[in-house]
This record gives sequence, structure tokens and C-alpha cells, in this order.
Amino acid sequence: MSWKSRVKAVLMPSEQAAPQPKAEQVKTSNLASALSIIPGQPYSPPIGPVTAHLATPIFESELKALTEREGHQALLEADTWQLPDIPDREGYYGERHYEYWLSGLRDYNFLTEAAKRQGIELNENSAVFDWGCSSGRVLRHFAVRNPKTTLYGCDVNKNPVEWMHEHLDPRLQVFHNTYLPSQPMPDNHVDLFYAFSVFTHIDDYEDTYLLEAKRILKPGGVAVFTICSDHTWAMMNNKMVIYNSLIAMKELFPEWDIPECFSRPMPTEKVAFRHQAESNYATNIFHSASYIKKRWGRYFEVVEIAHERHGYQDCVVLRKPK
Ligand SMILES: C[S@@+](CC[C@H](N)C(=O)[O-])C[C@H]1O[C@@H](n2cnc3c(N)ncnc32)[C@H](O)[C@@H]1O
Repeated sequence: MSWKSRVKAVLMPSEQAAPQPKAEQVKTSNLASALSIIPGQPYSPPIGPVTAHLATPIFESELKALTEREGHQALLEADTWQLPDIPDREGYYGERHYEYWLSGLRDYNFLTEAAKRQGIELNENSAVFDWGCSSGRVLRHFAVRNPKTTLYGCDVNKNPVEWMHEHLDPRLQVFHNTYLPSQPMPDNHVDLFYAFSVFTHIDDYEDTYLLEAKRILKPGGVAVFTICSDHTWAMMNNKMVIYNSLIAMKELFPEWDIPECFSRPMPTEKVAFRHQAESNYATNIFHSASYIKKRWGRYFEVVEIAHERHGYQDCVVLRKPK
């Protein structure tokens, strides 16, 4: 079976499933709905291109600095695609739409510079994969800056995927995946594989997701995954979203002494706060650097763990051995 027909197979109900559901039930009773998110509400209308939002505030000084870089105006004008409304981008940056766009640019810069340090220059023979891309916060910058590179993305939530199909560059090959750590992608196919703020919520199947990323990467290819690390743990404070949400849920974790536990080192190399049963944010995971080196190092060369490169999250840079 070709990998393109595997995309379809992943999303279709099994042929052996019997009896056939009525037409109006198909939407919520197919295989993907059981193993992914199909929201009841459609996505919101888009809110116009970034140039319509340049007056919205920018809080983070690192992001403000990007606006002063040479060539910034040209980057703004080149991205004529719509921005998603707040609910269709996981709430990122609230009403601060320009800052939302800048955050994608910062992450794009980190990715391409990390790849370059490993000798990877993106061109017409290269491919990039964004796992858990939501509505393309980062991918949109690749579409503008690397128009000849093949660009893939996927998300377990159907709305942002459909939003991208409708409103972003049609060259982006974006699909709705399930929670199973199996992607409809060929082996040894992409140069750069990344996920921002996805492993921070993945507890089960962590090793299998890593192995799947390794299978899809070309030999020598680079993976970048963000984590909440022991560095993040040590800096936990009430200006951080994750700190405030764990405080708000502290009754759910009687075994943890929140917030006092954050004044001591991580008690184990990986800590999982498990909370809601039916959400893609059902857990918050902290990975220590020693865990990453030992456990993720079984599959990849661990090149770098760069602190606070995606807000308070660290970026782990990995390389598939040649
Ligand atoms: C915190 S958001 C980050 C979105 C995006 N990476 C960004 O940085 O803007 C996490 C995203 O990962 C998606 N996600 C979570 N688990 C996933 C999985 N197993 N496969 C694909 N996407 C997943 C969620 O639906 C959500 O869009």
C-alpha cells in the first residue's frame, strides 16, 4: 500500500466493521473519532493576515526584538495568509495576535538554525514534518520562507487541520492523525521533524512516538522536541501558565505537595501530573536532562538541550545516526 493510501486508511473505519452506522452517525463513530478529537463546534472564521494586527501588544521582550531585525517588514508582507482566531490556535497569546505570529517566527528561527548547525540546509529536496501542528503557528513560516521544501503537519484535533486546509498555503500537506503512534509517512523521508509542546502532554507511548519519528527521519536528520525539564521545574513560579494550572488542580494530586515540591529538585527523572481523562491535555510531563540523555539517547544522538527556547520550555535537539 502506498503511504498516501495509508493516510486514508488511518482515517477510515475498518471495512470489517459491522453493521454500517447511519449516515448521520458516521461523523462521530468512525475510527478517527475514537482515537482523536473531532470537536462538536466548527472552527471560527479567520481574523485576517498578520499585517492587520500590528497594533496588538507584545509582552515578551525576546519577541519584540524580532520586530527590530533587518528584513522584518519584508517577512510581514510576505505572509499574506490568514491568522486563526484564538480558539483555533489552542488559545496561544490571547488577543496578542502579532505576538502569536512572532512566536512562530522565533521557533522557525530556532529550528532552521539548529538544522543548519547539523549541516542541513532546506531546499527543494528537503522535507519538514510538524507533529501536533495545530493551525500552523510554525509551519506557516516555512511555507513563506522555504517555498520549495515539502512541508507536512498533523494534529490529533480535526478543527485546526481543517482550518489549515481552508486558509493556509495549499502546498502544506496537513492531515488529521489519531493518538496511535503510527504516522502514514514513508521511512527515511524528512530532514527536520519537530513538535512544540506535544511531549509535554504525552505520557503513554513516549518511546513508540520517538521510534516513529526516527523511522520517518532521514539518516542524519534532526528532530526538535520541546519539554518541561528539571530547569523548568526549578523556575516554577506564579507567572507561568503551567504553575497556575497545577495549583488550580492541586487537589487532584494528593501525592504531590504543590507548590512546595517545586522548591526541591525533581524527585524522579520523569514526573507525570495526570488529570483529566478526556482531553489532549490530560497530563503535564516533566523530563529531566538525565532522563532525556539516557532514555531518548537510546534512539538518537542528543545534540543539545537548550533552556527556555520556547517560552519556559526547553528545546531538545536530536539527530538520527547516519
Ligand atoms: C500545546 S498545543 C501546541 C500546538 C503547536 N505545536 C504550536 O506550537 O503552536 C499541542 C498540540 O498537539 C496536539 N496533539 C496532542 N497529542 C497529539 C498526538 N498524539 N498527535 C498529534 N497531535 C497531538 C494537540 O491537539 C495540540 O494541537
